[in-house]
Amino acid sequence: MISVEAFDLLATTVLLLNPAGEVVVANAAAEDMFGRSRRHLIGQPAALLFERDSALEQSIRQACSGEVADCRQFAMTRRATEAVEVAVTSIALVQKPWAALLEVKDIEQRVLVDRSLRLVEEVETQHELLRNLAHEVKNPLGGLRGAAQLLESELPDPALIEYTRVIISEADRLQALVDRLAAPQRMPVQWQSVNIHEICERVCALVRAEFREVAILRDYDASMPELRADPARLMQALLNVVRNAAQMLTQQPGATRSPHITIKTRIARQVLLRHKQHRMAAVVSVIDNGPGVPHTLQERIFHPLVTGRDGGTGLGLSLAQDFVQQHGGVIEFDSQPGHTEFRLMLPLEPI
Ligand SMILES: Nc1ncnc2c1ncn2[C@@H]1O[C@H](COP(=O)(O)OP(=O)(O)OP(=O)(O)O)[C@@H](O)[C@H]1O
Ligand SMILES: [Mg+2]
Repeated sequence: MISVEAFDLLATTVLLLNPAGEVVVANAAAEDMFGRSRRHLIGQPAALLFERDSALEQSIRQACSGEVADCRQFAMTRRATEAVEVAVTSIALVQKPWAALLEVKDIEQRVLVDRSLRLVEEVETQHELLRNLAHEVKNPLGGLRGAAQLLESELPDPALIEYTRVIISEADRLQALVDRLAAPQRMPVQWQSVNIHEICERVCALVRAEFREVAILRDYDASMPELRADPARLMQALLNVVRNAAQMLTQQPGATRSPHITIKTRIARQVLLRHKQHRMAAVVSVIDNGPGVPHTLQERIFHPLVTGRDGGTGLGLSLAQDFVQQHGGVIEFDSQPGHTEFRLMLPLEPI
C-alpha cells in the first residue's frame, strides 16, 4: 500500500498520472518545481507542464498505457520567467491505482548536490583528523615548552638563552596554530536575524581599505529576506573569500589589469544543502577576474593548510567552509583564468 503523503517527503518531484496522462497526485516538491499550487497541477495533462516536446509526449503516453516500462529524457519547463532544464523519468505502474509515475529532476541541481555532498564529507574527515592531531600535539608541546623554561633557568652561560628562547617561541607559535585549527568547533554559534547585505557592505569596506587598487562592485538582490545566522562567523567566512580574491588580484606575479571583484547575492530555489532539501537558499557569489585557482590545488583548497600563496597559512577557506557549514550551507567554486566564482550557499528558512 503506497501512502500518498509519503511522496511529500521526497526532494524529487513526483507526479502520478491517470490513464489519460493527467495529473492525479502531485507532491510538495512538484509545487516548487512548476511554481504552481497542487490545485492548479491536478487535472492538467502532464505533457503540458513542459515545453512542447513530441518525444516526451510519446513516452508519457506509452508509460500511461503500459507499453514502455520506463524512459528517461531531458525536457524544458518554466518556473516564473525562467526556463529550467530537467530530467523526466516516465514509469509505467502496473496494478496500482495510477497508470504512471513521472519523476522530474533539476539537472543543474543534481550536479550541485553531488559536488556539495563530496565537499561536506571531505571537510568532515579533515576535522576529525585535525581535532585528533591538535589533541596529540598539545600535550608534548606543553612539556617541551616547560622543559625549555627549566633549562633556561639552569643555563650556565647567558649566551645560550638565545637557543631556549627559540624553542619557547616556536612552541608558542605551534600552540597558536593548533588552537586556530581546533577553534571553530569550540564556541557556540550565536544565532540571530541577519541582513546579509549589511555583512557584504562591511566586508566590502574592510577589503577596500586594505586593497585600494581593487574595484569592488556590488550586485544585490533587494528582495533577499533576513536569514538566521551568526553574523560574526558569516562575516569572517565572506571576508576570507573576498580577501583571497583581492590577494590573488594584486599579490601574484603579473598582477591582473583593472582588477575587480563583484559581490552578488541571489535567491536560489529548491537546493539540497548538507543532505537537506531547502525551499530557498541565499547565494552570495564572490567573482574576481584574477588568474584563477591553480589546477593542482582545485581539489584541495578547502582543506586546511593548503595554500598556493607565499605567506599563506591555508586556513582561510577551511575556516570559511566550516563556518558556512555550521549554518547548514556550503561553499563551492568554479574557476578559470579571468573568472573565478566562489559561492556561499546558505539555507533561507522563514524567520
Ligand atoms: N579567488 C581566488 N583565485 C585564485 N586562487 C584562489 C582564490 N581563492 C583561493 N585561492 C587559492 O586557494 C588557496 C587557499 O586559500 P586559503 O584562504 O585557504 O589560504 P591562504 O589564503 O593561502 O592562507 P590564509 O587565508 O590562511 O592566510 C590560496 O592560497 C590560493 O592559492
Ligand atoms: Mg586566504
